Amino acid sequence: MKRNKFYVTTPIYYVNDAPHIGHAYTTILADVLARFHRALGDDTFFLTGLDEHGQKVQQAAEKRGLAPKQHCDDLAPRFSDLWKTLGISNDDFIRTTEARHVSVVQAILQKVHANGDIYQKEYEGLYSVAEERFITEKEAESGQFREVKTLKEKNYFFKMSKHQDRLIKYIEDNPGFIRPEHRKNEMLGFLRQPLGDLCISRPKARLSWGIEIPFDRDYVTYVWFDALINYISAIGYMADEDKFKRFWPAVHLIGKDILTTHSIYWTTMLFSLDLPLPEAIFAHGWWLMGESKMSKSLGNVVRPLDLIEQHGVDAVRYYLMSEMNLGSDANFTPENFIKRYNSDLANDFGNLLNRVSGLIAKNHGGIIPEAGTPSSADEEVVVTGRALGPKVEALIRDYKVDEALNEIMNLIRQVNKYMEAQAPWKLAKTDLPAAGRVLYTATEALRLSAVLLKAVMPTKVATVLEILGVADSGLSWGELKSGVLLPAFPPLFPRIEVEKKV
Ligand code: ME8
Ligand code: MG
Repeated sequence: MKRNKFYVTTPIYYVNDAPHIGHAYTTILADVLARFHRALGDDTFFLTGLDEHGQKVQQAAEKRGLAPKQHCDDLAPRFSDLWKTLGISNDDFIRTTEARHVSVVQAILQKVHANGDIYQKEYEGLYSVAEERFITEKEAESGQFREVKTLKEKNYFFKMSKHQDRLIKYIEDNPGFIRPEHRKNEMLGFLRQPLGDLCISRPKARLSWGIEIPFDRDYVTYVWFDALINYISAIGYMADEDKFKRFWPAVHLIGKDILTTHSIYWTTMLFSLDLPLPEAIFAHGWWLMGESKMSKSLGNVVRPLDLIEQHGVDAVRYYLMSEMNLGSDANFTPENFIKRYNSDLANDFGNLLNRVSGLIAKNHGGIIPEAGTPSSADEEVVVTGRALGPKVEALIRDYKVDEALNEIMNLIRQVNKYMEAQAPWKLAKTDLPAAGRVLYTATEALRLSAVLLKAVMPTKVATVLEILGVADSGLSWGELKSGVLLPAFPPLFPRIEVEKKV
């Protein structure tokens, strides 16, 4: 049987400052999907990295009085170290200053130039210094662009306009390509106006920090034309064709701020290179602080490390994954964090763990009881349990991590109610095997949930499964072994008292 393939990427982040919760979110989302797909047996590759060229980085370096490359080398570990702390399982980490990337960008420029898709002209137009690109009159009117000035310059242009009709048709013919749906419509709306060509060079006299244009040494490559190529340079385009063919096309996870560059610049570049378009471009919403986007320039960021120090990596991963609804914005508040943690992890999941192990210790000699023949009440839990694996798999394959988590928690909540109704602590006095059956069913539901939660909370879940004695168990109902000693669980998700500050 041919294995499914899953290649997932995050944006490569600018190395102009330290990463915040927004960057951590996209990276954890990619990690969760990668871990899940690996567990399903898919041939998985997970890429993240850093965007090191361009004006933003040059300015950040100047501010620190460093050469740009030194600035990048200095700051890169802030990202890679945080990813280690967050348990990110990326297979590669690309930096756009690496030779393996630079050589591919230059080879692509040569190829697209030779194809006749790059030309030089003098252009006078509105330029946003903050966005580092020429903008249209309409964009300028929108008021969303900062530091706009008129600029007259001779530059190289990529014939993006040539591919407009083909792109519209592609987006219309492939409904799952740009996700979620409303983002696709936004892009189709954008494509209703004539698409201009893309200015892909910057004169060295104005900006020197970039990849030199191989056919004109007076210029460097525009940072977006360079950066987007990371998705193929990292997997061996023009260098290791087997690896490239094995993994391309990718699923690109991005924030909605960079949807246009991905769905329009990148796709037309790929058309010009005669390569397949990405499998999907998924644009999630923003983490907000109050009314505004959390951003480095606004300075209203939440530092992931502070949260991790107080509540642990798994709790932070769980919160970010469960709180943001597919495609919409989410509000980060310490209150929400505590509420979500206490209700899902401390109460629903953590208490159930302690309860079953406590009762098994007290009434069943600490030995996991026999499954027995399920009663009709047990059967209701078994039915939900059997359906859960396929349901969660389908949701994850559809990028609906928050909904998948909700389904898992629904089973846990159902089991908590079932425990209340069956009262195995009372039942033990009259019918010990029946009480054992209830506890087996509840514990098996916990095991199954833990297996499904592994991609989100790898550390805590590994502990749970080890204690249950089924570290490598899978998704079928009934893999919990009876007759085995069940040690007590350590306090995995202690309740956060509200007086305590996040
Ligand atoms: O745009 N909420 O890099 P960048 C959610 N180098 N996600 C957020 C966020 C927030 N408040 N803030 C940032 C760049 N992100 C380019 C990308 S790709 C070829 C080049 C996340 O450092 C989100 O994924 O500005 C967003 O798209 C990305 O960080 C932007 O990171
Ligand atoms: Mg940004």
